[in-house]
Amino acid sequence: METVVSGIRSTGHLHLGNYFGAIKNFVKMQHQHRCYFFIADYHSLTTHPTPDDLYRNVRQVLIEYLAAGIDPEVATLYIQSDVPEVAELYLLLNMNAYKGELERCTSFKDKVRTQPDNVNAGLLTYPVLMAADIIIHKATKVPVGKDQEQHMEMARTFANRFNRLYKTECFPPPYAYNFDEALVKVPGLDGSTKMGKSGAEGNAIFLADEPAVIRKKVMRATTDSGPSQPGEPVSQPIQNLFDLMGIVSDQGTLTHYQDAYKQGTIRYGDMKKQLAEDMIAFTAPVRERILAIDADENYLRKVARMGAEKARESARQTIREVREIIGFASALPVN
Ligand code: TYM
Repeated sequence: METVVSGIRSTGHLHLGNYFGAIKNFVKMQHQHRCYFFIADYHSLTTHPTPDDLYRNVRQVLIEYLAAGIDPEVATLYIQSDVPEVAELYLLLNMNAYKGELERCTSFKDKVRTQPDNVNAGLLTYPVLMAADIIIHKATKVPVGKDQEQHMEMARTFANRFNRLYKTECFPPPYAYNFDEALVKVPGLDGSTKMGKSGAEGNAIFLADEPAVIRKKVMRATTDSGPSQPGEPVSQPIQNLFDLMGIVSDQGTLTHYQDAYKQGTIRYGDMKKQLAEDMIAFTAPVRERILAIDADENYLRKVARMGAEKARESARQTIREVREIIGFASALPVN
């Protein structure tokens, strides 16, 4: 049985990008593999959340993981900071992660551009922590969206480098995984190519959004003035709407609007109304479960405790092995 690891940062509600890029595969994979899914709360500290916000966001992601279909009795569902062995492995991997390669990472360069006043060491070494998350369980498959491709390459680099340095086969190389299909990139409603929390207002549809909110966001989505003649190439914002329809609507609906576009008879208003209703049909049952789980504090605590225990057991084994490989001579047992 292969080991699977993936995580989601605790920076707010989950959106359709998180769902179709990642969680959908988590749900599919949980019955086939040994799965570890977690809430990346260490990672979210790069933006310095207040303790209240951090707590609330971690809790919310836990709720939404469960509402989206992760079964905590089958998969190991845990909070990253409940497994401090991850932080130890991160420290050890940092000794063989180089400034130059970390500075070349696209997500780091983006942050330098967008938040020049907060270029902290945690941001620079973000891919090292991510590698530690994955290899602490010796995972080989990592279901993620397309935006994580480069981080996955770096995780492989760090795993292989450790193996070479210590002449060991401790860590199998991990790969991004999407059932032999290309990695997914869900576009935004603001015309940008990626749905994300940091996008413009209304860019993302959240699993917890009320139907009225979804209708409003979709009706305000960026469009163009329409094809001026049949067969005109599709602009990015319109392509995004088609892509979103391809994800939440049935094939017949998508084909109908694609044909209308080709014939120059498309009415974006109608298309958006349909898209909003299909998004609501998809999110409504998840939203209901979010509200129900939110009210069950005991269940949430139980899930978090159970996940922490299972994840620590696996992490402890790896750390014990790594300490020995490195040559730490302490007589103190790692417990
Ligand atoms: P994060 O929290 O930004 O996103 C969580 C997951 O959702 C996917 N995703 C998308 N997929 C398709 N289209 C989109 N618009 C979209 N937006 C987000 C992401 O690809 C990701 O799979 N660094 C990671 C968290 C992490 C992690 C890990 C993941 C930390 N350690 C170890 C895997 C393994 C991140 O920031 O994801």
